Amino acid sequence: MSAIQVEKLKKEFNGLIAVNEITFEVKEGELFGLLGPNGAGKTTTLNMLATLIKPTSGQAFVAGFDILKERDKVRKSIGMVFQEPALDNYLTGRENLEFHGMMYGLSRKEAKERVREALKIVELEEFADKLVQTYSGGMKRRLEIARALVHQPKILFLDEPTLGLDAQTRRKIWEYIKKLNKEKGVTIILTTHYMEEADFLADRVAIIDYGKIVALDTPENLKNILGGDVISIEVDNHQNAKKAFEKLPWVKKINQENGIFYLQVEKGEEKIPLLIRIDQEEAGFQIKSINLRKPTLEDVFLHFTGRTIREREASQTERFRERAKIHMR
Ligand SMILES: Nc1ncnc2c1ncn2[C@@H]1O[C@H](COP(=O)(O)OP(=O)(O)O)[C@@H](O)[C@H]1O
Ligand SMILES: [Mg+2]
Repeated sequence: MSAIQVEKLKKEFNGLIAVNEITFEVKEGELFGLLGPNGAGKTTTLNMLATLIKPTSGQAFVAGFDILKERDKVRKSIGMVFQEPALDNYLTGRENLEFHGMMYGLSRKEAKERVREALKIVELEEFADKLVQTYSGGMKRRLEIARALVHQPKILFLDEPTLGLDAQTRRKIWEYIKKLNKEKGVTIILTTHYMEEADFLADRVAIIDYGKIVALDTPENLKNILGGDVISIEVDNHQNAKKAFEKLPWVKKINQENGIFYLQVEKGEEKIPLLIRIDQEEAGFQIKSINLRKPTLEDVFLHFTGRTIREREASQTERFRERAKIHMR
């Protein structure tokens, strides 16, 4: 059975199509990523699946339950961490979580036990009895993840789980997310506009742009669409080097630009030693420098949309401004 099944799900807000008939499936135990720029429709998608907003059309099943007809069952099956932090700063970490447990109908004793377990997973036991207002941004995010786990959901929804955190804190959160998925077997769907995050965490990634899924596969396969890694080599004798490179059976394509060779290969890191081992004296050239570039999901986004994620976000801001102007008239 799939954990989440989405069929032609669509959401329109007064004429603006935020989510445009998307179809995908998340398998049980999978860590699934929705990657796209701001405004792509990620939060709207999660909110529909969490039964917080109603789709305009289409259907979806979460943990086997219909998001339109079985809202309570859907809600009990999922834990959600919202894009916007939502903690009570004047309560302690533990109190925030216990309150959540009671909301889900756990007894006081049960809630206490589950809260202890959840706090342990994100390593916050030590700070559990401190007021949330004394927590750092990263600790707050960890607490929110713990809170989403208190009622032991099968599926976890994470909306931009590391938004605004520094690189080091982000890595820490990644570890918790991976651990939850791999060790505790929680199915996870997460949204992000950080490609390294999707690449590092997700088993499969759906790239979403303007409410549409433009590509969906494992990060590895998505990057392979671009034809593999690129090794750039600077040499002193171009003619001789070219002859030597053409003899290498594992070079898929040779490009030459401004005196630098670009070799398209698979597993570039294993090919660099082979290049160095060419008998340069006999071949009549010398390597001056070698560089390896692996394609990123940013390259994949660019390939499918013709824009980088950053450019897309800039044009979204532009769109907001235009709309705001119209409203002000
Ligand atoms: N409640 C709403 N009313 C009107 N427009 C909305 C609403 N929520 C989202 N949108 C619009 O829908 C689009 C997708 O938004 P969202 O799902 O938040 O994207 P993302 O999470 O990928 O950044 C955006 O253009 C946004 O402005
Ligand atoms: Mg969002």
